[in-house]
Amino acid sequence: MTPFKRAVLGSLLALSWPAAQAADGQKVFTQGGADPAALACIACHGADGGGMAAAGFPRLAGLPAAYLSKQLRDWRTGSRRQAVMEPVAKALTEDEIKAVSTYLASLPQAPAGNLRRQQIANDPTERLALYGDWSRQIPGCVQCHGPGGAGLGEHFPPLTGQPASYLVAQLDAWRDGSRSNDPNQLMVGVAKAMTADEIKAVAEFFARSASQEVNP
Ligand code: HEC
Ligand code: HEC
Repeated sequence: MTPFKRAVLGSLLALSWPAAQAADGQKVFTQGGADPAALACIACHGADGGGMAAAGFPRLAGLPAAYLSKQLRDWRTGSRRQAVMEPVAKALTEDEIKAVSTYLASLPQAPAGNLRRQQIANDPTERLALYGDWSRQIPGCVQCHGPGGAGLGEHFPPLTGQPASYLVAQLDAWRDGSRSNDPNQLMVGVAKAMTADEIKAVAEFFARSASQEVNP
């Protein structure tokens, strides 16, 4: 075999490897893990992984694999605590965590937020979301969570496309200490500096912005 052929074959093998993992991940998603306590994700997170807004179950489809597997490991170590997900995460094997995260990351994402919202702030809620409030050391959410809050890279999850009640629950969890898994305490400071009214308003802003194309 020529070095060129070997290189081509090598890259084909590298490409087929994630596909093999994705098959397992789909099974974990639709049927659960080997341990019966690792319930099928589809039951709560929806057939397309888009979550169930009315129940406050978050979207998983299209979220970064590294972020998803980190969350599942954080429930295992206790730096994120929540009664429903903790037993599910503890019952998954490390292989199942990797496979299901890779599978979920490959599913279509939520529609990106309206990017105009990155620049134009019409009211105090939008100002907080876009620019923050430096008098309280709150940076704008979009500075880490990406334009329109659509997520950025492997570690900053999307805020758009998530149910408002889920976003509120996470900010409350940082305030009461049941979620303490943010690297360098990036989120705990932000959450503690916000009022309960601001948390609700900003969560509704991001939950809404995924479906709203035109700035009113
Ligand atoms: C019985 C319902 C239920 C089942 C089954 C379930 N989940 Fe969840 N999941 C939830 C709830 C509720 C939350 C929100 C937890 C919170 O508020 O912290 C959640 C949150 C998550 C998150 C965090 C998302 C984020 O944006 O941080 C991940 C990751 C996750 N689930 C993965 C899974 C996987 C993988 C499976 C299947 C192996 C699964 N879930 C099965 C109810 C469920
Ligand atoms: C300095 C960077 C930074 C800023 C600014 C920031 N965040 Fe975050 N945020 C993060 C990181 C990092 C995570 C993921 C933490 C983890 O790994 O669990 C996160 C996670 C979240 C989550 C959980 C999402 C999920 O899927 O569970 C919510 C909700 C959130 N941020 C809301 C906000 C809001 C609202 C603002 C603005 C008021 C904001 N963030 C500003 C870095 C930031």
